[in-house]
Amino acid sequence: DWSMENFIEIEMEKIRQEVGDRKVLCALSGGVDSSVVAVLIHKAIGDQLTCMFVDHGLLRKGEADSVMKTFSEGFNMNVIKIDAQDRFLNKLKGVSDPEQKRKIIGNEFIYVFDDEAKKLDGIDFLAQGTLYTDIIESGTATAQTIKSHHNVGGLPEDMEFKLIEPLNTLFKDEVRALGTELGIPEDIVWRQPFPGPGLGIRVLGEITDEKLEIVRESDWILREEIKKAGLDREIWQYFTVLPDIRSVGVMGDARTYDYAIGIRAVTSIDGMTSDWARIPWDVLEKISVRLVNEVNNINRVVYDVTSKPPSTIEWE
Ligand code: XMP
Repeated sequence: DWSMENFIEIEMEKIRQEVGDRKVLCALSGGVDSSVVAVLIHKAIGDQLTCMFVDHGLLRKGEADSVMKTFSEGFNMNVIKIDAQDRFLNKLKGVSDPEQKRKIIGNEFIYVFDDEAKKLDGIDFLAQGTLYTDIIESGTATAQTIKSHHNVGGLPEDMEFKLIEPLNTLFKDEVRALGTELGIPEDIVWRQPFPGPGLGIRVLGEITDEKLEIVRESDWILREEIKKAGLDREIWQYFTVLPDIRSVGVMGDARTYDYAIGIRAVTSIDGMTSDWARIPWDVLEKISVRLVNEVNNINRVVYDVTSKPPSTIEWE
C-alpha cells in the first residue's frame, strides 16, 4: 500500500541496487525538483553522490549562499559550487534577442557542466529531477514552440552517463510532500518556479551589470513584501522585470530620467495559463514606495495586468 514513507524506502533500495558502489552526479539548481532528487539520493548512497551548483550570474539575491548553506552545511552533502558568472555574462554581451539569450544561457550551462564533470573522476550516473508531467509534456507541442524552454539542469546530450530519475512517476504536489517528508526546508519545498535562464530573461534586451542589479534588488524587495503580506503561497509567481524604458520623474525639486520597473504576479495551476494576481492595493503601494526609494535608477513602477494567453508569464 502506497505511502510516502514506503515510496522513500522503495526508491532508496532501487537506487542502492542500481548504483552499487559507483558514483552519481546531480545538477542542483535550488529548485524543488533537483533538491528533492539530491536529498533522496544522498539518503540512499551518502558520499557516493556529488552535486554541482552552477552560479551563472543570473541568480536572485542570496540564492547561491542559501543553496550552499542548505545542502552543503545543512544536509552535509558534497556540493561543488561553480562560479561561472564571467563566462555567461561575457557570452551575453551585446545580445538582445530573447531566443538568442535563452540559447546562449542553455548552451553555456551545458559547456560549463561538461567541463566541470570531466574534472571529476569515475562518475557513472547522472541524477535528474524529471517529473511525470515533464515526460508527458515533452511529447506535445506546448509552450516549447512559443519559447524554447531551457531547463538549466538538463542533460548534456553527448554525455555518457546513465540516468537516474526517481521522481518520474510523481506530480508536483507529490514531490512537495516527498520533500517535506525528507526534511527539506519549507522555503525550498514551496519555492516559486524560477526559469533556468534566471534574471537573464527579466532584463529585457541586452544584459548589463547595472540592469541586473536593478532587477536583483527589486526582486528581493518584492519577495520580502509578498511574504510579509502572507501572499507567497497563493501567488504562483511574482517577480520584477526591467523593460528597456526610461521616463521622466521628479524627486525633491529635481527632474529625473530613469528606468521604469514592472511587477509581474500571476496565479496559475501549471504555468500553461495564468491570471494576474489581485494583490491588494495597499500592498502594491508599499512595494512601489520601497522600489523607488531603495533601488537606484528607478523612478516609476508599473503593474502587469495581462493574463496568459495572450501574454506569457515571463516578458521574454
Ligand atoms: P511563460 O513565460 O512561457 O512561462 O508563460 C511559463 C513558465 O515557465 C517558466 N519559464 C522557463 N523555465 N526555462 C525554464 O526552466 C525557461 O527558459 C523558461 N521560460 C519560462 C516561467 O517562469 C513560467 O513558470
